[in-house]
Amino acid sequence: MLSPLLLAAARSGRMRDVITSVPLTRGVVDRFVAGDDLGAALEAVRELRDGGLEVTLDHLGEDTREPAQARATRTAYLRLFEAFEEQGLAGGSDASVKLSALGQALPGDLALDHAREICSAAGRVGMTVTLDMEDHTTVDSTLEVLGKLRVDFPWVGVAVQAMLRRTEGDLRDLVGEGSRVRLVKGAYAEPASVAFQSRHEVDRAYVRALRRLMRGDGYPMVASHDPRIVEIALSLAAERSPASYEFQMLYGIRAAEQRRLAQAHQMRVYVPYGADWYGYFMRRLAERPANLAFFLRSFVSR
Ligand code: FDA
Repeated sequence: MLSPLLLAAARSGRMRDVITSVPLTRGVVDRFVAGDDLGAALEAVRELRDGGLEVTLDHLGEDTREPAQARATRTAYLRLFEAFEEQGLAGGSDASVKLSALGQALPGDLALDHAREICSAAGRVGMTVTLDMEDHTTVDSTLEVLGKLRVDFPWVGVAVQAMLRRTEGDLRDLVGEGSRVRLVKGAYAEPASVAFQSRHEVDRAYVRALRRLMRGDGYPMVASHDPRIVEIALSLAAERSPASYEFQMLYGIRAAEQRRLAQAHQMRVYVPYGADWYGYFMRRLAERPANLAFFLRSFVSR
């Protein structure tokens, strides 16, 4: 019952003002976000890489309504690539990009143009890019941008959400050779007309999509903390070479399991950083009621 409320709050400007103005929130946010700036992100990345984990970096921000803000997000990614190259962290690393932060909702091809610049800079330093998937109204546009980017940058990946009814159909075009697909359950509040609503239905849809990806010729990225999903993925991957798929988890969630999997498999951690953490943080609270309790306790225990 709480999840839809928290997901609605994730999009509320008024709630954003309240929650981000409380200094105590910060301590809880730090569990899920590597820090406000690139320096903090680099520190987290070094630690993860020392532990044998790969990374994908997300410069936080979404739903940009201002061209200047979209440009600033693009610039933040360009700085990230420079820093990764300078510090010898680029090889094998990935950047996760939300097209809504690059101007997807603004007129023209702004998001595509920014994404092209980002891909071009990532390619120069030997990094890859994966497009995050946002709410269902953006899926057509995101897949269209993906198709255009892949003409010049065939290594660009995309996230697909098992909860969306359309995903099984979308996968038909995404299982070809070289196609990098991150399979997630889906983090947005969606209506029943477009998305499975029960946990059970979403999990079953996830497994169907996973089977399809594992049987295909692409590069499946299994992004879930769910132990049953991880087990199923391991058994489906038994026929594949270890270099032909990877696991992914979010920064701060099931860290011990991340390190355990990394001993025998490719394991990538999604590392968000930046000051605009509100929407990301609220989705993490919505995923797990215990996170909300932890968040509320941090107020009461002061
Ligand atoms: P599930 O929610 O069933 O959780 C399984 C178990 O994992 C829980 O019982 C708990 O132990 C642990 N867990 C899960 N979430 C937790 C949390 N917030 N805090 C603490 N423990 C938690 N979504 C999207 O719509 N678009 C996207 O682009 C992405 N990108 C993305 C990248 C990566 C690398 C990951 C791992 C996830 C995403 N997601 C996403 C989020 C995804 O859609 C989903 O909301 C979360 O991964 C939670 O679903 P699980 O598969 O982990 O299962």
